[in-house]
Amino acid sequence: MAVEKIFVVGAGTMGNGIAQTAAVSGFQVTMMDVDQDQLEKAKAVISKSVEKLFQKERISAEGKENALQIKMTHDLEGIEEADLLIEAATENFDLKRKIFVELDEKASPKAILASNTSSISLTQLASATSRPDKVIGMHFMNPVPLMKLVEIIRGLDTSDETTEAVIKAAEKMGKVAVEANDFPGFISNRILCPMLNEAVFALQEGVGSREAIDEVMKLGMNHPLGPLALADLIGLDVVLSVMEVLQADLGEDKYRPAYLLRKMVAAGHLGRKTGRGFFEY
Ligand SMILES: NC(=O)c1ccc[n+]([C@@H]2O[C@H](COP(=O)([O-])OP(=O)(O)OC[C@H]3O[C@@H](n4cnc5c(N)ncnc54)[C@H](O)[C@@H]3O)[C@@H](O)[C@H]2O)c1
Repeated sequence: MAVEKIFVVGAGTMGNGIAQTAAVSGFQVTMMDVDQDQLEKAKAVISKSVEKLFQKERISAEGKENALQIKMTHDLEGIEEADLLIEAATENFDLKRKIFVELDEKASPKAILASNTSSISLTQLASATSRPDKVIGMHFMNPVPLMKLVEIIRGLDTSDETTEAVIKAAEKMGKVAVEANDFPGFISNRILCPMLNEAVFALQEGVGSREAIDEVMKLGMNHPLGPLALADLIGLDVVLSVMEVLQADLGEDKYRPAYLLRKMVAAGHLGRKTGRGFFEY
């Protein structure tokens, strides 16, 4: 099955990046969010981003124009036309489950339901629908327009046809698709988030200043961003949710979230998206 129309649910950090990348690559895209302000913000972020990429000759004039034509909606209008739905709403199992039930009811029976979740089980999300063979994880990386990888996660009942269709769609977006099995955090966040969490423990225990921790990992390990700056980029709420899923589902104390991470999230200092995390923006 060939994907032509994509419906993105959630217009936050990831949703707007996915919608932009898909539109630039020639898909017809609609983006939905329950929060009107987020849609306005997403529109501004996309137009600034495509202008910059166009100036750098990384996208064509047509690609830029396509991205500026993304339809925005705060309800599910137009959903029945989509071949592929990509859910990129807040990382919370109950919320995503509810969204999947609704998407399953309203989308075309032929449509694929994908989630951009960072850690939640695709098999569990699939079980909330009547089409578990058409539910799959498409885990894009942040910032989506620049990062090459899409981690593809098959649930227990995901079909080969669904997997092939989303790999083709990811490739049309200029991405490299790598398959991972449905385990908490998949490959990427099983390895990355415990490292970020450990950096927060190091800060909390006074092993080093925020600057020292990031400098050591950048200069010593050749990481392009330090772990605290990367956690700010991802969103501290997202990192906390992933750690909670790893701890609950893998049942090991080594995944417990650092208390300072919880405190930052409780205070609403979520990183770049709120202007303050471990660093100020
Ligand atoms: N931030 C990252 O670096 C990153 C990377 C890969 C994957 N992810 C995953 O992508 C998803 C989105 O993360 P994000 O960083 O974009 O979060 P975000 O907080 O920036 O955006 C989430 C958006 O979801 C919207 N939303 C909430 N409930 C909704 C509903 N019922 N219907 C539609 N929209 C709804 C919110 O209004 C918000 O705009 C999460 O599952 C996260 O784990 C995040």
